[in-house]
Amino acid sequence: MLRTVVCVSGGGTNLQAILDAIDSGKITNAEVTAVVSNNPGAKALERAAGHGIPGILMRPADYPDRAAFNRAFTEKMCGLAPDLIVLAGFLVKIPEEMVEAFANRIVNIHPSLIPSFCGVGYYGLKVHEKVLERGAKVTGATVHFVNEGMDEGPIIAQKAVEVLDDDTPETLQRRVMEQAEWILLPQAIDDIANGRLRLEDGKVRRRSGLSAGPDSGKEEI
Ligand code: GRF
Repeated sequence: MLRTVVCVSGGGTNLQAILDAIDSGKITNAEVTAVVSNNPGAKALERAAGHGIPGILMRPADYPDRAAFNRAFTEKMCGLAPDLIVLAGFLVKIPEEMVEAFANRIVNIHPSLIPSFCGVGYYGLKVHEKVLERGAKVTGATVHFVNEGMDEGPIIAQKAVEVLDDDTPETLQRRVMEQAEWILLPQAIDDIANGRLRLEDGKVRRRSGLSAGPDSGKEEI
C-alpha cells in the first residue's frame, strides 16, 4: 500500500477525485493516510474528515520565521512516513530540505501545459487569466515530480483542454479541472502505486513490464 499524504490549501476537488478513485478502485494499492493544510478554513479538511482521514494544520504564521516553519514542516512530514506526497492545490513553497528528504516522492498538479503558464506568480485563477490574455487556443494540466525549481520537475502526465472564445477564467478553470486534473492526478497516483513509472535521465518513462531493474541513468520510483 502506497502511504499517501495530500497537501491542500483550498477547495480540495483534486483531493476528492483521489478519494473517489480509491473508493471506486480506479486507484489501487494506495491509501491517503493524512491531509495537510496551511489553511484552517480549507474545505479540503472537511472532505478529509468525511473520509475519517486525519487533517493536520501547518501554518507558516505559527512559527517565528520561515526557516523554523520549514524545519517543523519537514519533521512533521517525515513523522508521517509517506511513500508519496501529493500537492493538490497547496500554496506553500516546499522547503528544499523536504524536497531532498522525499526525492522523486512528491508530485504536484499544475493547471496548464508546462512549460507554458507556470512558474512564479502562476497559481489558481491567475494561470487561466494569463491563458485568456494571451489568446491561447489550448491549455490543460500537468502532473509532475517536485524538485527544487518552481514547476520544473520531471513531467509525469499531461492532458490538453480546448480554450473557448467566451471563456472566463472561472469557466476555463472548471473545464481544466473536469477534463484534465481530476483524471490525470488519480491516474498518476495509480501508476506510481503500481510501479508503472521510472525515471530515466531525468525523464519519466513508462516501464515496459519486462524491465530487469535499474540500469545506469535509470531510477526506480
Ligand atoms: C487546481 O487547479 C490545481 O491544479 C492547482 O490548484 C487548484 C486546486 O483546486 N494547483 P482544488 O483545491 O483541488 O479544488
